[in-house]
Amino acid sequence: MSQLVVMGNTRLKGEIRASGSKNSVLPILAATVMIEEPVVFKNVPELRDVQTMISILQQIGKTVSFENETVTIMPGEILVGNVPYELVRKMRASFNIIGPLAMICGWAKVGKPGGCNIGQRPVDFHLKGLEAFGFKITEEHGDVMAVIPQNFEKEIIYALPFPSVGATEQLMTTATLMEGSKVTIENAAREPEISDLQNFLNKCGAKVSGASTPTIKVTGVGKLNGAEYSVIPDRVEIGTYLLGAIATKGDIKVYGAIADHLIALLSILEEMGAGIEKSHEYLRAFWKGPLKPVRVSSEPYPGFPTDLQPIITAVLATVEGTSVLEENVFENRFGYVDELNRMGAKIKVSSSHANIRGVSKLSGAEVIAPDIRAGAALVMAGLAADGETIINNVTHLFRGYERFQEKLRTLGAKITLYPDEE
Ligand code: UD1
Repeated sequence: MSQLVVMGNTRLKGEIRASGSKNSVLPILAATVMIEEPVVFKNVPELRDVQTMISILQQIGKTVSFENETVTIMPGEILVGNVPYELVRKMRASFNIIGPLAMICGWAKVGKPGGCNIGQRPVDFHLKGLEAFGFKITEEHGDVMAVIPQNFEKEIIYALPFPSVGATEQLMTTATLMEGSKVTIENAAREPEISDLQNFLNKCGAKVSGASTPTIKVTGVGKLNGAEYSVIPDRVEIGTYLLGAIATKGDIKVYGAIADHLIALLSILEEMGAGIEKSHEYLRAFWKGPLKPVRVSSEPYPGFPTDLQPIITAVLATVEGTSVLEENVFENRFGYVDELNRMGAKIKVSSSHANIRGVSKLSGAEVIAPDIRAGAALVMAGLAADGETIINNVTHLFRGYERFQEKLRTLGAKITLYPDEE
């Protein structure tokens, strides 16, 4: 089990560049199953989750190369409509392949994802949506089997019960090849990653509109062509470092950031009294004096992102007064709170709320990272704390943060990975 050892009392200072968005590139890579021409992606983060999606594409017959943040996908000879649970278990976003794969093979069998550390995370909206499209869905031995209908209805309307990011991506991608059909997805997610997917699909000849609004419309076409595409910067990664700067009373610039994608975070940071500077080239966050406690609710975009919830908690843990955090996206996203409390934080959780009573300083301790974002939160808390913090189970972190230690070291952190350097 790998460990990160972090020296406390460090102020993060300096400049880094944002990586490409993990959450954008995963559904975009899944969509390439439907493209039988070469596709090239730039600005792809070198992360374990991206490698997992590439392994799936290779398994079903694509030839894929990945170097220097560029992924090239060549069409393979045979496509196999079968993705085993082993690959879905590693990463839930693998399930996004079921609709596109069925469109190409006529059927697809994909392992059904189980629960994870932040909640149950079912895929019922994906499956109900595909059924509304006319797919026959059956489940057996832990796999989901999806079979396309002989003909698609001319007009299909499906309203998502909740604006799920993954289900919106699955359905809008699948619909692009439903020739002769006009599909409307209502109550769609509005995250920037949805717009990125729409832009990519349209570059390949799809007819998708409405991304960033609650209603997405897709007119099915007969074929998608190859394209070259560059993915958007990772707003969660950027937000993590900006919050790290504030937690450690530091001053950093993240180049390549898109401020509009981080509106909710930036306005909370301003409300707290943190220094924020926005420019076309970078986002700067700096500590300019004592911070005020706040009330934060995680919501679907454009609300405060649930992925930054653990990290802002690490900041609020040392803000004098009482802050309140409400989690409205996942049912169980406070698994890291006991770990922060081991470091001296005073946080009480009751159902979807966390009450955070700010302490003057955290103290370094040995803790366990339950998931990617919670791991990042513990690292930021460790950098701000007194003494040394040992974070166990950090393999999670490398699923979501490209060159994590390198970027933190550029900002002045003393951080070491054991047993081996990544
Ligand atoms: C994506 C992001 C993840 C982020 C999340 C919410 C990727 C690869 N991951 O995850 O980082 O935290 O959006 O912004 O992009 N739900 C159901 N049934 C479904 C689908 C979802 O009940 O079929 C529920 C989930 O359990 C959860 C909520 O809807 O409570 C939101 O999930 P969703 O938006 O689908 O998250 P993901 O796409 O899995």
